Amino acid sequence: MSSYKVKKTDGDMGWFMHDRLGMFIHFGLYSMPARHEWVKSVEKISEEHYDKYFEHFNPDKFDAKEWAKKAKAAGMKYAVMTAKHHEGFCMFDSKYTDYKSTNTPAKRDFIKEYVEAFRAEGLKVGIYYSLIDWHHPDYQIDIFHPRRAEPWAEEANKTRDMVKYREYMFNQVRELLTNYGKIDIIWFDFTYPTMDSIRNEYNQFAIRDYKEWMPWTDTTTWDSPNLIKMIREINPDIIINNRTGIPQDITTPEQTLTADWPKFPGTDELYAWEACQTFSGSWGYYRDEMSWKTPEMLIRMLLNSVSGGGNLIMNVGPTSRGNFDKRADNALNVFAEWMDLNGRSIYGCTKAEPEFTAPAGTILTQSEDEKRLYIHLIDYPYSALKMGNMAGKIKYAQLLHDGSEVQIREKADGMVTFLTPGIKPDQVITVIEVFLK
Ligand code: GLC
Repeated sequence: MSSYKVKKTDGDMGWFMHDRLGMFIHFGLYSMPARHEWVKSVEKISEEHYDKYFEHFNPDKFDAKEWAKKAKAAGMKYAVMTAKHHEGFCMFDSKYTDYKSTNTPAKRDFIKEYVEAFRAEGLKVGIYYSLIDWHHPDYQIDIFHPRRAEPWAEEANKTRDMVKYREYMFNQVRELLTNYGKIDIIWFDFTYPTMDSIRNEYNQFAIRDYKEWMPWTDTTTWDSPNLIKMIREINPDIIINNRTGIPQDITTPEQTLTADWPKFPGTDELYAWEACQTFSGSWGYYRDEMSWKTPEMLIRMLLNSVSGGGNLIMNVGPTSRGNFDKRADNALNVFAEWMDLNGRSIYGCTKAEPEFTAPAGTILTQSEDEKRLYIHLIDYPYSALKMGNMAGKIKYAQLLHDGSEVQIREKADGMVTFLTPGIKPDQVITVIEVFLK
């Protein structure tokens, strides 16, 4: 078995670290302005103006069954959907607020429909819940709050009671974990204790609005220890991410390629991890953005994760009609086609053992049982790929997508030459499957 062992935590990590690929879904009122899910903060939109979206929210094309089928076809084994994003709007029938989807023209509990449809397709289901809430009357005004620049903002904080907000947040998390069946992942977002904790974030737009009186957020803001305690009492082996400010089952690097397997804070132990990425720059539907990733970039992100022992959760931002737009469908089809023939190099695979050194222009993954090594040809090598320290280790080698033999030549110095086709196969990324002795 793989020599890489992650630090033992409470979450049920077995299926998670086997399945490797998930779907993130960012769906809320922000899909109506269609200018990024942070639009309310970036444009400092008032409640009155933002209520227009509430009054007209009616995703008539929403079909969770269709979403689930697309996720499954794309090779995704689990999903995480936003129940409440920073805007504070609830996509579920919470009894603690009127600011919810069942009170819009839609009159639907989207989380209920999502968990039922995705479970029916055999996918694990996670829920994203924002600790931040720009709608709740007791939530503190801070560097990101849409009303941060108002002359009354500082004074308003004196009557905003975060004890009451925390009670609301705890009640909603409890609702989500008890009213919708077994939830496999709870995905919180996010804690920012200092200016430095946001300097490397893309949401730096707000830095110019910072005032000394503005509070930061940390584990006391959310009462994170008791929040986690409550969650574990409801569902002991649920996977909890790191964004309450307290490391739990997974760490969640975002919109970046991760250099190597992260370590659990304060230890030398490996930390289970999941990179979260977007098809374009935005999590919520953003009609006019043009930064859509190429097929190679999409598959490269998946390989960056698995080759470092991690997962990839790929985000879709549905339109306010409730469907995936063509660009998202096209990106999902890139995964569907590649995973259909090459998924064996992803599922049940992890970082290659230290004895294997990736030749230039390749990315390696290895099966957990150590019997199969996968060489992903990022820079296509044309007629031959040379790899050191491999002689005597190979039973057989083939191209994964079509099972065609890859002949090898071994040399006394340990070098192996893989005789690859002179013409690059019609694959976004071609993979050599090596059966090891
Ligand atoms: C960042 C973004 C947030 C998004 C999250 C997903 O925290 O601010 O909008 O939901 O990343 O990882």
